[in-house]
Amino acid sequence: METGLKNRVALVSGSSQGLGRAIALAFAAEGAHLALCARNGQSLDALASEIRRQHKVQVHTGAFDVRDAGAVEAFVGNVHNVLGSVDICVTNAGGPPAKDFLQTTDADWDDAFALNLHSAVVFARAVIPFMQRERWGRIVTISSMAVRQPLPQLVLSNTIRTGILGLIRTLSNEFAKDGITVNNVGPGYTATGRLKDLSSRIASSTGRTEVDVEQAWIDQIPVGRLGKPEDIADAVVWLASERASFITGQTLLVDGGMYKGM
Ligand SMILES: NC(=O)c1ccc[n+]([C@@H]2O[C@H](COP(=O)([O-])OP(=O)(O)OC[C@H]3O[C@@H](n4cnc5c(N)ncnc54)[C@H](OP(=O)(O)O)[C@@H]3O)[C@@H](O)[C@H]2O)c1
Repeated sequence: METGLKNRVALVSGSSQGLGRAIALAFAAEGAHLALCARNGQSLDALASEIRRQHKVQVHTGAFDVRDAGAVEAFVGNVHNVLGSVDICVTNAGGPPAKDFLQTTDADWDDAFALNLHSAVVFARAVIPFMQRERWGRIVTISSMAVRQPLPQLVLSNTIRTGILGLIRTLSNEFAKDGITVNNVGPGYTATGRLKDLSSRIASSTGRTEVDVEQAWIDQIPVGRLGKPEDIADAVVWLASERASFITGQTLLVDGGMYKGM
């Protein structure tokens, strides 16, 4: 499939590992130039070298915390200066901690808002003016299947991430006239470092083994396996491609069929 992404500039946040890393590699394979950010500069630099070597595209990196709005805005400005445009913006970061509702504190709620909703707002606000000038843009938020179906022990994620739905629906209406689409990808259980942390935390709090915890997740997934980061990356690349130019304001769950709603 021709994606039309060659020489586009794709900014992917939270790209030092996990889903963000896979998304960055998938854009590079399409010939897009990349702007990568996360807190761990060493991992980013290693990934940037790997991508430059393998795919011969330009890669710009920035090490900062996406909860820092000033740092996000400065990075987007730098990306535009260095790479010449910001065509695609994938907003991704870590997830809030797994906790039962009564264990959560006000600080947890503030932090989940900053990490999983406000950071997407700040990225969108920073990139949209550049996209408007080009009359072309793609924003893809990474949230969770929890925007459709709450997941156990993830009350922070289940609650805060649904705000993403209001954000993408609103932005999709407001900026379609500028050639900008805004969509959301909701991963189901996908084999990354975050999922390993989650299974080990649940295992130690319940006395089960990590293997049992993972098997219980797999038992809920009709395709019979955990997701691979590449499964999510392929969906993001498609939504960012020319082939998806009539799709906006949508949430695409990539969950192996786990969500049971209509
Ligand atoms: N994996 C799943 O099964 C699954 C399912 C549903 C939803 N999700 C959601 O999808 C997102 C990505 O998941 P993942 O499994 O890839 O997680 P991950 O393996 O923990 O990776 C998270 C990435 O975000 C970066 N990051 C974390 N906090 C950051 C911050 N404050 N500022 C900047 N960068 C930050 C991390 O790099 P640094 O540490 O270097 O900053 C890393 O590159 C998360 O929001 C997660 O909750 C995942």
